[in-house]
Amino acid sequence: MNLSATHQEQLNNFWQYCLEHQYFNIGYPESADFDYSHLFKFLKFSLNNCGDWREPSNYALNSFDFERDVLNYFSELFHIDSEDSWGYVTNGGTEGNMFGCYIARELFPNSTLYYSKETHYSVAKIVKLLRMKSCLIETTATGEIDIDDLTTKIKLNQEKQPIIFANIGTTMSGAIDNIDEIQIRLKQIGIDRNDFYLHADAALSGMILPFVSSPQPFSFADGIDSISVSGHKMIGSPIPCGIVVARRKDVERISVDIDYISAKDQTISGSRNGHSVLMMWAAIQSKSASDWRHSIEHCLSLAQYAVERLQAENIPAWRNPNSVTVVFPRPSENVWRKFHLAISGNKAHLITMPHNKDTKKLDQLIDAIILDQTTLPQCSTYV
Ligand SMILES: Cc1ncc(COP(=O)(O)O)c(C=O)c1O
Repeated sequence: MNLSATHQEQLNNFWQYCLEHQYFNIGYPESADFDYSHLFKFLKFSLNNCGDWREPSNYALNSFDFERDVLNYFSELFHIDSEDSWGYVTNGGTEGNMFGCYIARELFPNSTLYYSKETHYSVAKIVKLLRMKSCLIETTATGEIDIDDLTTKIKLNQEKQPIIFANIGTTMSGAIDNIDEIQIRLKQIGIDRNDFYLHADAALSGMILPFVSSPQPFSFADGIDSISVSGHKMIGSPIPCGIVVARRKDVERISVDIDYISAKDQTISGSRNGHSVLMMWAAIQSKSASDWRHSIEHCLSLAQYAVERLQAENIPAWRNPNSVTVVFPRPSENVWRKFHLAISGNKAHLITMPHNKDTKKLDQLIDAIILDQTTLPQCSTYV
């Protein structure tokens, strides 16, 4: 590729910028702890995974064999037999959520989607795109869906076949909706198992809960119908991507045979990224379950360290069980901008990810928050 000296310089400058900021992130759940350099050579090829990786495709340059391994891995992780599941490598958590909602809407076309106020902003957009009826549910102080409010609204709406969008780790506080209790309460109000759909948005925690000793219910064995995880969050990837897994019999309802590609179309995107499939494959092949457990234990203990340091300074920081997200009162703009923290209302959070090998970056942020604390809102009333 011929680039002018100016353009070459522009790229070189950007390269320096990226090197400098590679490990900047402590406010968003993006791991920078990856090395896919052995895959660079595949950038020579236009890999395209359009269609269903279970079937041969007319487009020869695909990485379907690797996608099959990735989906087998995640089916096992989420406790569903791979023969009973179908999923694919997505462009990210949002696409996986849309896929789950799309299947649900096809199963129950006249139903309402119930989701909590702490749900990721993209779900309101998905509901619009799919033209679904939706109903917003209150949350508890720690960010879980308020199941009393959920059941009250389902009854008020005289909903026969609700679609429940459960957070398995909310964006702001890592809160995990209690899907056991949701199912018990649905049964109590006369809704049978075959008459609701339960999608799990496990963007970050989908790669945490399988590796902790006491996970909250999150899997197909616990009653979910589909699950979406981001690949660029806990796993880590230079390209945003994700994994979605659903029940195969449900996916078959949305599948259409397309003669143009001689394949089944059952994904949100047509052309799909074959390189990110290789990355997800390399990520799962290069780490054993015990490696993931260690990495996640490390992130959880860093999060606990942050909570304790902040609390020792009377800053009411907290985190949910099995969460690497530490919530604390929103600091001044200087601090949240300097450390690129995510803020929402009067809250901010930090997220401990595998690239935080030690407490150095965390301590810099905590020191700044402590220094800043005189400007914090009413700490004593803050949950
Ligand atoms: C809970 C939750 N769901 C969905 C998403 C969207 O995921 P993605 O950015 O991979 O599309 C996020 C992103 O932060 C999230 O936190």
